[in-house]
Amino acid sequence: MTAYGLLRPLLFMLPPERAHQLALAALARRPRRERHQSDELKIELWGLSFPNPIGVAAGFDKNAEAKAGLFSLGFGFVEVGTLTPLPQPGNSRPRLFRLHEDEALINRLGFNNSGHAAALAGLRSSADSGIVGVNIGANKDSADRIGDYVKGLETLNSTASYIAVNISSPNTPGLRALQARKELSLLLSRLSQTRRALPDPKPLLLKIAPDLSKDELADIAELSLANGIDGLIISNTTLSRPSLKSSHASEQGGLSGRPLFELSTRKLAQLYHVTGGRLPLIGVGGVSSAETAWQKIRAGASLVQLYTALIYEGPSLVADILEGLAQRLRRSGKNSLREITGSGVADWL
Ligand SMILES: Cc1cc2nc3c(=O)[nH]c(=O)nc-3n(C[C@H](O)[C@H](O)[C@H](O)COP(=O)(O)O)c2cc1C
Repeated sequence: MTAYGLLRPLLFMLPPERAHQLALAALARRPRRERHQSDELKIELWGLSFPNPIGVAAGFDKNAEAKAGLFSLGFGFVEVGTLTPLPQPGNSRPRLFRLHEDEALINRLGFNNSGHAAALAGLRSSADSGIVGVNIGANKDSADRIGDYVKGLETLNSTASYIAVNISSPNTPGLRALQARKELSLLLSRLSQTRRALPDPKPLLLKIAPDLSKDELADIAELSLANGIDGLIISNTTLSRPSLKSSHASEQGGLSGRPLFELSTRKLAQLYHVTGGRLPLIGVGGVSSAETAWQKIRAGASLVQLYTALIYEGPSLVADILEGLAQRLRRSGKNSLREITGSGVADWL
């Protein structure tokens, strides 16, 4: 049994948020340790050199406190946030639920975070030099939500390797409406305008929901290409409820983990199909093994992220996935993951 196999029953006796705080504190104390990474999984994208395609998804390290520890687990990149301009406490507790039998979580945290100013210190710390994406959002009570994203881009661009615009959290009422054509068009034109005025603009990505129809995905793809968006992250958590066994199944909030895999991978493949591969995609949702990461890449992902599986499988998961991906790549006879991206799209349409 792994060390995490012994520790997990104890962690799972704690309320999920408390267990998460302990995990973050342990990661924050972990010194950065260079891991040997073989060259075969390297990805060059947006002018960045990713040592491998596996990143930690937004929400795990909301306030950029544990980046070095996360890199030491083997992640090729870390996405921090969601950060809003002002600090906010999020929704009342309980607001995070383990669906143990389903290897899933439901959360309705509601963008609890320390705000831009407090996060800047962590983001500027130069102890860790890996690829750090910064995920930005809007305050719940903001009178100008688009203005909040503009502030996020202006304030955090210089400390980020890329910026992810999160318009898909289900836990801030009305936020997902920004994905609709008219609102999205307004948001993207404001962001492109802001970006043009920045001295050193970073890649700009949009993070979207899995609960979108094919037509809505096509609109998002078209507007993203027209406004110079560099990539899409698909997906955030789902409001849908595939059949679940756990007693927490009907809690309100976004579902993540194993039951999200199929839906989010289907939407990923649809996006790849509709963009003809012209827009790099980050595949997220239910990745819990080398096989599921490989399937995301085949369904169109240039990069992959995960969150929930880390809670169920523990920190050794990252190294296991990397090893399994390298084995699969060698078996495929191809030289790089780029050649695998999108090769299995037809299976998902
Ligand atoms: C507890 C929790 C908090 C999250 N917070 C955020 C967030 O602040 N911003 C965001 O873009 N996504 C957030 N997510 C969504 C994840 O980044 C990811 O898109 C989703 O969980 C699907 O991946 P997974 O199945 O590997 O967990 C959160 C997910 C969880 C479980």
